[in-house]
Amino acid sequence: MKSITINCDLDVYDSFEDIPADIKELMEAAIEARDMAYAPYSKFHVGAAILLDNNEVVTGSNQENASYPSGLCAERTAIYYAGSKYPKANIKTLVITAKSLMHSMITPVPPCGACRQAIAEYEVRQDEPIEIYFMGASGKVVRSNSLKNLLPLAFDNTFL
Ligand code: THU
Repeated sequence: MKSITINCDLDVYDSFEDIPADIKELMEAAIEARDMAYAPYSKFHVGAAILLDNNEVVTGSNQENASYPSGLCAERTAIYYAGSKYPKANIKTLVITAKSLMHSMITPVPPCGACRQAIAEYEVRQDEPIEIYFMGASGKVVRSNSLKNLLPLAFDNTFL
């Protein structure tokens, strides 16, 4: 038996004000998308914005359903829209922001496990890393230079 350690490299910015100007612009698109969330059940509003290599920006918000599992997260709403509308474009950056109507949200909110799996599919498909930034409603912003930091040991098509 031997033990292995898997590293997860992340950058942490103290606040929205500290992130690069182009990412700020993308995060503003995610904030706008967040305000369009349909989340009457959780009252947890999430927005995502994706920058493609054709310079298009695609956004998404979480869309809930009275049959709870039928709803979809903001990240998958956005990434599936990007994949549908621009199937030939590569995803350069994904940014995420979340705000609760019930309490303040200053902790950076990372994509859920199912969204990480969905993002992995696109990173593998394009064979180029997807840069990811995530934050709460305010507070610190976390950056990963690839989905790999958020989903080590990912299951992908190489196993099939
Ligand atoms: N949600 C997202 O949109 N993205 C995530 O990564 C985590 C959770 C949504 C799903 C649901 O509408 C609400 O947040 C509460 O889980």
